[in-house]
Amino acid sequence: MNPQCLFSEKTAIAPEFSGSASIVVYGGDCLDFIRSIPDEAVQLIVTSPPYNLGKEYEKRLDLALYLRQQEQIIAECVRVLSPRGSICWQVGNYVDRGAIIPLDAVLYPIFSNLGLRMRNRIIWHFEHGLHCRRRFSGRYETILWFTKSDEYVFNLDPVRIPQKYPGKKYFKGPKAGQYSCNPLGKNPGDLWVIPNVKNNHVEKTEHPCQFPVELVERLVLSLTHEGDWVFDPFLGTGTTVIAAIRHQRRGMGAEMFPKYVTLARARIQQELAGTLRTRPMDRPIYDPQKAGNSLSVSPWGKEMQKSTFTRFEPDCLGKPL
Ligand SMILES: C[S@@+](CC[C@H](N)C(=O)[O-])C[C@H]1O[C@@H](n2cnc3c(N)ncnc32)[C@H](O)[C@@H]1O
Repeated sequence: MNPQCLFSEKTAIAPEFSGSASIVVYGGDCLDFIRSIPDEAVQLIVTSPPYNLGKEYEKRLDLALYLRQQEQIIAECVRVLSPRGSICWQVGNYVDRGAIIPLDAVLYPIFSNLGLRMRNRIIWHFEHGLHCRRRFSGRYETILWFTKSDEYVFNLDPVRIPQKYPGKKYFKGPKAGQYSCNPLGKNPGDLWVIPNVKNNHVEKTEHPCQFPVELVERLVLSLTHEGDWVFDPFLGTGTTVIAAIRHQRRGMGAEMFPKYVTLARARIQQELAGTLRTRPMDRPIYDPQKAGNSLSVSPWGKEMQKSTFTRFEPDCLGKPL
């Protein structure tokens, strides 16, 4: 298949897996769907599963039962994964009466016992979310990246980011005077600062837990080649398939809730038509002060601010607050 002409506005969204399809959105349970995928057919599996928090699309389960269900799905994902393929499981915390249980910690043994090898535990940092009163507000989640073997696809060049000091040169040795940086940019590292999809994000839909397209794009570009299959067992609003199409990869996913299946199909259609609005991968993080946003000026006088912030100054250590 020539990936150059993989998609057009008329590309069909197949309802079931077929070797000749290039986009599949299955409306139903992911386990049923995965069982229809042939062994080793998929290059990349990216997903954000339910966190067992009792959201509208999930029933809160005993944690052990939740993990057993995840294990069943992950085992099937491993079966359909190509020998050079990757699985990226994006998770946050399960919360039990105020105590947090990081899902990556409890899911790790499942992947490891299935013989997968972890390559990165990527920290996805974002700035918006719930304001906690009895613990520090959660401002990151993780992406567990596993490969099936030691011979895996990893393309760094398409995801390099600008250097901090691109003009830096070697100052001694045989390369003295030459630029020391890679002109294509630097490795983005394992801490990714990417805005989450909250109310004023351009990608926000009625779904409560979308991840942003740019997060998945980075994984698609680095862990697959054009024409490969990218799969999301918990597709939600179709984000993973959108990121795949955008980079000439075939995309498929399963979603159990009919209203999200409809939403995913509509967003994929918009992507095919070139009308879906997303936050671009290379856009810097919004800085309200630099942007001159009037709300970044405190309405409280300087004195008020001073009394708040002096609490954190070293010279008041030991004084009653
Ligand atoms: C955290 S959300 C994923 C959102 C997605 N990443 C996006 O950007 O829209 C999890 C999704 O999995 C769906 N889901 C839950 N259990 C499922 C199952 N067994 N099979 C298929 N989908 C399921 C939920 O309805 C929900 O939309």
